[in-house]
Amino acid sequence: MASSSSAASVDGDGDGDGDREETVLVKQKKKKDGLGWIEWLRGLWCVLYEILFQRIMASHLQNPMPLPPLPDISTCIVTGSTSGIGREIARQLAESGAHVIMAVRNPKAAHELIQKWQEEWSGMGLPLNIEVMEVDLLSLDSVVKFAEAWNARSAPLHVLINNAGIFSIGEPQRFSKDGHEEHMQVNHLAPALLSILLLPSLIRGSPSRIINVNSIMHHVGFVDTEDMNFVSKKRRYTSTLGYSSSKLAQVMFSSVLHKRLPAEAGISVVCVSPGIVQTGVTRDLPRIVEAAYHLIPYFIFDAQEGSRSALFAATDPQVPEYCEMLKADEWPVCAFISQDCTPTNASEEAHNVETSLEVWEKTLELIGLSSDAVERLIQGEQVECRYGMKTILGN
Ligand SMILES: NC(=O)c1ccc[n+]([C@@H]2O[C@H](COP(=O)([O-])OP(=O)(O)OC[C@H]3O[C@@H](n4cnc5c(N)ncnc54)[C@H](OP(=O)(O)O)[C@@H]3O)[C@@H](O)[C@H]2O)c1
Repeated sequence: MASSSSAASVDGDGDGDGDREETVLVKQKKKKDGLGWIEWLRGLWCVLYEILFQRIMASHLQNPMPLPPLPDISTCIVTGSTSGIGREIARQLAESGAHVIMAVRNPKAAHELIQKWQEEWSGMGLPLNIEVMEVDLLSLDSVVKFAEAWNARSAPLHVLINNAGIFSIGEPQRFSKDGHEEHMQVNHLAPALLSILLLPSLIRGSPSRIINVNSIMHHVGFVDTEDMNFVSKKRRYTSTLGYSSSKLAQVMFSSVLHKRLPAEAGISVVCVSPGIVQTGVTRDLPRIVEAAYHLIPYFIFDAQEGSRSALFAATDPQVPEYCEMLKADEWPVCAFISQDCTPTNASEEAHNVETSLEVWEKTLELIGLSSDAVERLIQGEQVECRYGMKTILGN
């Protein structure tokens, strides 16, 4: 375990150097550099429990989950909707009447899906209201361009579903062209940037929701805020470390965002666990493990079952009230909905307020936004971003 010390100035008049003598060491403690064994075992148990018992826990849910009719003015952006859980989320929201924007890196595949869905839907109601917009989460420039294109419509946004994600199981460490470890970028940094840049549209659509498709795996994650891209070699990099840490970072960031958004903004921030789901995530698994996945269908959800928690979080009328209650309660974590569509506890580490605040600051730095970006966007001011075309207009 590495240790570090931190000093804090208590002089309050902010005149820096001159008052350095008055600076006192207020804390000198060992900085945590990983989960303890007990915490890690508890996290592992949560993951195993989900694998073994998710079907029993979710046995009260229908599949597909009936959704309330959504007015065609309900606008929902779903990232990563060309496969797996996101594809189900997008199709079901559209069939319930919403205007769905498939935010994808492969627009051709999305257009082919829309054509297929329209054919299957024909005769059952009005044509589905779905469109495609391109975004590649491995490029923060692309995220900014997407947000600018959407905000330029001056249209309301009711639901943003940050679903796209990667778990490159067994793969070596890779970095995006922005210099970030790929799991951290696709699963946390890019969705964080998208959520913040779309705040003006979400305020226009208020009451609105940001839904993050997270994972039970965040229970075995740990975020070292001084090394979010795993470059220091303090920890041996594995794809599981990259994935679980990115998911924990997302819960921590979402918790601070949830606290920072004033009630008047009317935006709920929710993380969900879809369960253990048979989707494209298994495409990178070794053949033998992939085969095992197919042999245990009883335990593993299909994509439709895996879409239920995100659809619940996006449409259930009580979710905003629940989020507001958590905010008022001083509860340190945002709403976390489990695969059986019930509110649940995020991991012990996710409750670490100090680290969550550090994750918040560090994330804003890595995505090229100033630390007051959220407050400024809420007030309708402009913010600058290091990526894209540099300026985003406020509401
Ligand atoms: N499956 C599980 O057991 C499980 C468990 C817990 C959490 N989750 C989470 O659920 C979410 C959906 O995963 P899934 O299981 O449905 O996997 P999936 O079938 O592989 O779908 C992932 C989606 O993300 C998109 N995507 C990947 N990289 C992207 C990028 N750079 N830019 C834009 N889009 C990108 C993919 O696009 P393409 O179609 O172009 O590849 C795909 O549509 C992820 O956040 C995942 O972490 C899954």
